Amino acid sequence: MLRVAINGYGRIGRSVLRALYENGYRDHLQVVAINELSDIETMSYLTRYDTTHGRFPKPVNTRNNSLLIGDDEIHCFHCETPDLLAWDALNVDMVLECSGSFSEREGAQNYLDAGVPRLLLSQPAAADVDATIVFGFNQHQVTAEHSIVSAASCTTNCLIPVLDTIKAFAGVEHGVAQTIHSAMNDQPVIDGYNPKDLRLTRSALSSIIPVNTGLSRGIARLMPELEGKIGCNAVRVPTLNVSAIDLVLRTENAVTKEEINQQLQQAATLKYAGLLGFTNEPHASVDFNHDPRSVIIDGTQTHVIDGRMVKLLCWFDNEWGYANRMLDVAKHWADVIIR
Ligand SMILES: NC(=O)c1ccc[n+]([C@@H]2O[C@H](COP(=O)([O-])OP(=O)(O)OC[C@H]3O[C@@H](n4cnc5c(N)ncnc54)[C@H](OP(=O)(O)O)[C@@H]3O)[C@@H](O)[C@H]2O)c1
Repeated sequence: MLRVAINGYGRIGRSVLRALYENGYRDHLQVVAINELSDIETMSYLTRYDTTHGRFPKPVNTRNNSLLIGDDEIHCFHCETPDLLAWDALNVDMVLECSGSFSEREGAQNYLDAGVPRLLLSQPAAADVDATIVFGFNQHQVTAEHSIVSAASCTTNCLIPVLDTIKAFAGVEHGVAQTIHSAMNDQPVIDGYNPKDLRLTRSALSSIIPVNTGLSRGIARLMPELEGKIGCNAVRVPTLNVSAIDLVLRTENAVTKEEINQQLQQAATLKYAGLLGFTNEPHASVDFNHDPRSVIIDGTQTHVIDGRMVKLLCWFDNEWGYANRMLDVAKHWADVIIR
């Protein structure tokens, strides 16, 4: 069993720990340490109670500076620079880096220097990391020799299974993807300063706010043949969780709405079973809260115009789906190492 640590115990870090206990990953991975800037009492409180996902599925207690979950003791640290932590003394095999602070090999290298043999990043990374993995699409590319791997973004995890399915059936010439993303912790509740981005100074409660997105680059990293072919925008909306991508594609071959929906439905039961879902029910975004799949196609919103312009609505739980994919990649990587 691999010994794992979580760095950054925010929305994704906490979702990862919860999914570990809720969805059976604990049989394969053990979280032995968490590093988070906040204090142990607040970490414990936010583990037990979560406005978005509800109460933690197991009793959570504290002892000194540890979280106790059932029989598991998780040592907690509060250190901003990972190289100052004695990871090797903890015998950590892999750090799940969920702070958002390290996306380049140079910063991530601090972990390796501090005795962490493997790092899985919860965000897209610079091109010099060892691999970027979208589970279900290219996890076979992870090797035992890799040390820094990215689990891509929640939006890349949402789109790649859809693009893969449509490409295989009808080919993709080009397209546009509009992400409609729920609020995140880098936005203020009411207007406040942000040193990096003027749009992130505006209240998350009151507006639809355009934000930067690296989704085009994320797609090209996984599917180099689509480099420069999918234009992407993103807006944040005042909801707590669950996002959508409005995807418009120009296909190489003529298709019908029925054929596209049928192909996606088939992918939901075969190649992407458990990762891609399909529904014909009349849904609102909140219906997908706590849904572990990477993407759910809303078949009621599929359009095909003039045979080759395909429009799809793709739902995803940006927190829970992504946390489960991170654990899928971690578990797969662990299997490769142990094999
Ligand atoms: N939320 C999503 O939907 C989502 C989905 C996929 C990927 N991601 C990615 O996951 C990363 C984290 O996002 P998030 O939404 O979880 O953000 P978040 O809620 O702000 O969590 C980040 C946590 O990391 C802590 N932190 C910051 N610097 C640290 C450091 N040097 N060492 C240890 N802990 C540190 C922060 O502590 P303090 O708050 O105490 O400063 C905070 O608790 C980002 O890269 C994001 O792009 C997010």
